[in-house]
Amino acid sequence: MTGRKFFVGGNWKMNGDKKSIEELANTLNNAKLNPDTEVVCGAPSIYLDYARSKLNPNIDVAAQTCYKVAKGAFTGEISPAMIKDCGVKWVILGHSERRHVFGESDELIGQKVAHALENGLGVIACFGEKLDEREAGITEKVVFAQTKFIADNVKDWSKVVLAYEPVWAIGTGKTASPQQVETSRLTLNKHVSFTSVTQSLSAVLSGSVTGGTCKELASQKDVDGFLVGGASLKPEFIDIINAKA
Ligand code: G3P
Repeated sequence: MTGRKFFVGGNWKMNGDKKSIEELANTLNNAKLNPDTEVVCGAPSIYLDYARSKLNPNIDVAAQTCYKVAKGAFTGEISPAMIKDCGVKWVILGHSERRHVFGESDELIGQKVAHALENGLGVIACFGEKLDEREAGITEKVVFAQTKFIADNVKDWSKVVLAYEPVWAIGTGKTASPQQVETSRLTLNKHVSFTSVTQSLSAVLSGSVTGGTCKELASQKDVDGFLVGGASLKPEFIDIINAKA
């Protein structure tokens, strides 16, 4: 565990509407949340302003992507400045769906990380192997490359949370084992001299984290928090936020 707070991010993905966001915000606003846990909810771009307006200030909001330059002819994209203009402080980058559904390369993700950090956003940087890559025995090679393009673009690790989310664990009910989490951390170590950043680097676990599994997962030495998909849209997200005593 680093010197930073336990971190729990939610990724709503392309889900919800104003009514459901207001209901979820009311549930979270009225819940007793561990003050030693940093909470961030990743909302769809179109609802960033609305989510920010409905959630209490102790809960931060994240965009789910941003582009690599400040402005211009990039139809449909959003910039860090626009995200900050909505009072939002974080952005999720490198999510496996951005990589494998929308074709974002390690290089583009690195450029996005650099631009987001240069423009004052906190970055939740995702990485993780696909099942066929794990079965082919190239997990470390894939994770090394993904984390290299992230690490090469970070100067201040206190503004970054790394999320190890093996693609085969997303929405499947399977979670990475303690050994698999440790291996991902060791691969990460190869880029980041921990002597200089140990106290500020957070590496969180992602993929099928639920209210039922979160306490045991939170007790693992290499888990500084979670990035949660499906369960972040449900009241059990409160249990996940409070998983670390
Ligand atoms: O960004 C986190 C997400 O991909 C994990 O999804 O539904 O397995 O918690 P889920």
